[in-house]
Amino acid sequence: MPWMVRDAVDDINRAVGRRWQGLDPLLPPRADLPEGCAAPLVANGVNGRPAGLAVCRHEHVPAGTLNQTWGTAGRFSLVLRLREADTSGAADDLLGQWRDHLARLPEVAADDTAAMVNWPARDVSGVNALLRHGMQALTVVAVRPAGHAAVVTRHDEAAHQGLVIREARPADLDVVTELEMGVIRYDALFGAAVIRPATGDLVRAETQAALAARPAWAWLAERDGQPVGLVHVQPPGQSGWIAGMTRPGVTVYLQTMFVRPEMRGSGIGTALVRHAHSMLDARGVQTTLLHYAQMNPLSAPFWNRMGYRPLWTGWEVRPAASLR
Ligand SMILES: CC(C)(COP(=O)(O)OP(=O)(O)OC[C@H]1O[C@@H](n2cnc3c(N)ncnc32)[C@H](O)[C@@H]1OP(=O)(O)O)[C@@H](O)C(=O)NCCC(=O)NCCS
Repeated sequence: MPWMVRDAVDDINRAVGRRWQGLDPLLPPRADLPEGCAAPLVANGVNGRPAGLAVCRHEHVPAGTLNQTWGTAGRFSLVLRLREADTSGAADDLLGQWRDHLARLPEVAADDTAAMVNWPARDVSGVNALLRHGMQALTVVAVRPAGHAAVVTRHDEAAHQGLVIREARPADLDVVTELEMGVIRYDALFGAAVIRPATGDLVRAETQAALAARPAWAWLAERDGQPVGLVHVQPPGQSGWIAGMTRPGVTVYLQTMFVRPEMRGSGIGTALVRHAHSMLDARGVQTTLLHYAQMNPLSAPFWNRMGYRPLWTGWEVRPAASLR
């Protein structure tokens, strides 16, 4: 990278880190621009100082990996770093440059591709620019700082009637796999998951490995001896892939929350999450992250009552060539 560009990158990284902290203290304190497929795209600002930089990253997620269940096979991501409080002009400019860049790549025309942007949820000034370029808000990364109290609801009492919450064990492989698949099928209704031929086998293999770990990070709710709900958390050592999206500290990722459809609305989900939170707090977890599909009608109110709120929004357009 020529020194002029590197200087601009350092300058923008610092400015954006400060701006993010002003917007949302649970965003990461540093906003370092990663390496992209080419030199950064530049949005010109006043006095010759860039108003924003962006890099494009290409990822091919192979068939036979569970990651392919969480989105398209071809992923083209734009990482934006915008300096000004009003991001709309620079975002518009960089998204337009990115569209032209993608239009030159033959692989972008394939069906199983997406153009993707992770956007700080509270940075509302750029939302219209994303919409203008044809992008849709598909997923939310929500965050809960430790100790953040959940709202007490009428379900708190109901849940305790005959409900048992216990650690999931290796012998629970069949039922845990079934509940994991339940949430994947539900997320697929909103485009947040894509069921692949290998999904079932891969979920089973991942579940088997997760259930072998001690202490357990997955809990089942049972009514009348029958498992009716599951919460499953990735321990800190396995949450590194997403921990950089929030403040430093001990971070975990809550990967699964599912209650059987006929049992919903009676407090089982609330009881499971309260149990998981008490375990996470006791294990020194400082921040919990999770994803939910923007259009899932059950998740946003549920997670909000449990003490979570939006941190990032995942914007996408599929296939990638339909970026405007
Ligand atoms: C989200 C989910 C885990 C919540 O579990 P739950 O046991 O239904 O939750 P609770 O009963 O503790 O929470 C109560 C809320 O459920 C909702 N609810 C009530 N009846 C419901 C029903 N028949 N079906 C679904 N939700 C219902 C209500 O919003 C209720 O809140 P309110 O009555 O105070 O307004 C569950 O709905 C579910 O498994 N959904 C499908 C998978 C999913 O969306 N997982 C989260 C993905 S991130």
